[in-house]
Amino acid sequence: MFSLVKDILNPINWIKLILNPKKIKVLYDRIFYYPGLNFKNIKPFILREKYKNFLISFLNYIGKKNHRLNYFFYSDENDKKYKKVELKEITFSLEKNKIISNSAFEALKNYGIIIFENILSDNEREKIIETFNKINNGDKDFLKKNKVLELNKHEKSEDVLVKLLYSELDYYPEIINFSKQVTEKIFGKVIDPVGQFLIHRSIKIPETIFPGDNNLHVDRFLPNLKLAYFPFDVENDYAPFTYAVGSHKINNRYKNFFINNENYIFDERNENSKTFFKQIIKANIKKNSIIITLTNGFHGRAPFTIKSERRSLFLTYPKFNLLTLFSFWSLNKKKNIYSEA
Ligand SMILES: [Fe+2]
Repeated sequence: MFSLVKDILNPINWIKLILNPKKIKVLYDRIFYYPGLNFKNIKPFILREKYKNFLISFLNYIGKKNHRLNYFFYSDENDKKYKKVELKEITFSLEKNKIISNSAFEALKNYGIIIFENILSDNEREKIIETFNKINNGDKDFLKKNKVLELNKHEKSEDVLVKLLYSELDYYPEIINFSKQVTEKIFGKVIDPVGQFLIHRSIKIPETIFPGDNNLHVDRFLPNLKLAYFPFDVENDYAPFTYAVGSHKINNRYKNFFINNENYIFDERNENSKTFFKQIIKANIKKNSIIITLTNGFHGRAPFTIKSERRSLFLTYPKFNLLTLFSFWSLNKKKNIYSEA
C-alpha cells in the first residue's frame, strides 16, 4: 500500500504513463488487487502488524455486506451440531437445463466443497484432454502460441514436476456456462475465470511437503472461490484434492487465526490451524467431474503415494477484486437470474 502511494506520487511514473497509456491497466490491477497473504511485503515494518490486522478486520467487514458472500462465508456455523459428511452427500449432478440446484449451493455454504459428476459433454471433455496432450507432448505449433510454464522448486514440492498453462476458456463453452452460474450465485455477478491447465507428475515417493502445494493451507483471508475440473479419475493414491470441511467460515475464530499469527504461517504447520480440522475429506472423484471449493478454507493436494500423473483444469477469479468487493451496494440490488439461495 505504501509503496503503491510512493509510486503514484513519483512524477517519473506519470511520464511513463503518458508515454505508454496501456500501463494504466497495471496501475488499475495494483490499486484494486484482491489481497493475499504476502503481509511480509508491508512496509514500513513498524506498521506491518497494525496494517495487517486492519486489513483483515476491515475488508471482511466490507465483504460481509455483500448478501451473497454473507450467505456463503459469514453465516453462522454450529460446531455442536456438526456431524461428519460423506463424499456422496456433497456429490451432485446438474439438473435439467444444466442448472445447479439450490440444495447443491446450500451444501457449498455448509461445507465449503461440493462435486459435480458428468459435467461436460464428451466433445468438450475431449477438447480439454487434447489441450493436455499438446502441453505434455511438447506440440511445437501449440507451444509457439501458448506459454507453458514449468514450476520451479520454490513453487511446489521438489518431488513433483508441474507444467502449467494459463489460458482463456472461450473455447470451452460448457465449462464457462457452469462458471457463470457459480460466480453469479456466490459473488452477485458473473466474473470471468482464468484457466490453469496443470499437469502434476510424481517423481519420488514419499513426497517432500511444500506448504501451499501438498499440505493444508488457505489461499487468502477473504472470500475466495476456485473450480477444479478433472478429465480423468483421481483416486486416493493419485493426489486427490483435500479439504478441511467447513473451514471457509469467516468468524472471529477464523479472523483471529490471521491476527494472532506473528510468524505468518497460514497452513497446517501452525498448531492453531488444527482447530479448523473437524473433518478432512479427500475428494476422490470420477472422470469428468468438477469441484467447487471455497479456498479461503484449508485445502491442498494430497501427496502422491504411487508414482503417476494428475491432470486438472483450475478456474480462478482474479477479476473479482477490491472494486467488486466494495460494490456490494449495487450487487445487492441486482436481481439474480437464478432463484435465491
Ligand atoms: Fe491453494
